[in-house]
Amino acid sequence: MDDFSNFNERIIAPEQTGADTDIELSLRPKVLSEYIGQEKVKANLKVYIDAARGRNEALDHVLLYGPPGLGKTTLAGIIANELGVQLRVTSGPAIEKPGDLAALLTNLNEGDVLFIDEVHRLSKSVEEVLYPAMEDFALDIIIGKGPSARSIRLDLPKFTLVGATTRAGQLTAPLRDRFGVIFRLELYTPAELSRIVDRSSGILGIEIDKEGSMEIASRSRGTPRIANRLLRRSRDFAQIMGTGIITGDIARHALERMEIDQLGLDLVDRLLLRAMVENYNGGPVGLDTIAAAIGEEAITIEDVYEPYLMQIGFLGRTPRGRVVTPAGYRHLGLEFPDSARGDTQQKFDI
Ligand code: ADE
Repeated sequence: MDDFSNFNERIIAPEQTGADTDIELSLRPKVLSEYIGQEKVKANLKVYIDAARGRNEALDHVLLYGPPGLGKTTLAGIIANELGVQLRVTSGPAIEKPGDLAALLTNLNEGDVLFIDEVHRLSKSVEEVLYPAMEDFALDIIIGKGPSARSIRLDLPKFTLVGATTRAGQLTAPLRDRFGVIFRLELYTPAELSRIVDRSSGILGIEIDKEGSMEIASRSRGTPRIANRLLRRSRDFAQIMGTGIITGDIARHALERMEIDQLGLDLVDRLLLRAMVENYNGGPVGLDTIAAAIGEEAITIEDVYEPYLMQIGFLGRTPRGRVVTPAGYRHLGLEFPDSARGDTQQKFDI
């Protein structure tokens, strides 16, 4: 496989890379009113935060799920900030032993927010410590060994766990049931992304016109992290090739040079669609088969590539597997074959 098969190297990978970290910190909205998009989530979250604050209680535990790069960490920060409490950040894989979690929990102050990213990756033994912590704000500790061992219960401060995951389906039922608030984050519309690009440009001192920000927005796959990354790369092109202002022309040129097409598809997306069309007559084809054909992990295809391809209507899920839709064929410049009509027709009513 060529280099582009590794999504970590893609300019449009929604995962955070080292280069994003500092910039994202400066761009992250700190309060709910600065946060653009996810309107339904924001509206309800505001009620829950105001109500908890009014009662002087900790907010219920919150689960945020959805594709990467949509602002789960940002929202956790906003929740803490709006509640006027501290935020502690960790992730499922970083909490290796029950003792690691115990250390985190006992260092919290009353009302604090503990953010656990990739919460579906907690180990079983760590999860078992988390259950009484979430439910009763208690930590059960075993002291001693053998017949004289006994369990003591330590009280914890009342805290709010904010869990984030790209894979809500992989959470165990007992963990999922302990979240009082569950929000699904959606991909952003181009209009929302364009407002985010304008806001980020203002913060970073980048000059950009309306056409430039719309061009970047419409090619960012519904994902603010990608929009902000494409903004930085477009600024480089504007600086070296233009007047320093990101115009529509400069943005189009920059994105063409990065091989990102009008809809934000890059080489890997096109490779995936093409492999399905050329090797499997456009589907239906199973996820694992597609994964093997393009040398990617099935999980990556499901979390990273498919949400956007499905949102723009290029890919569909049927009971017998994934299919490329007529719109997907058209985008590749191909004719939708009669032989592919069967399953696709059922699903898409074409
Ligand atoms: N930067 C990244 N995501 C954002 C959002 N949803 N609102 C405002 N700025 C952002």
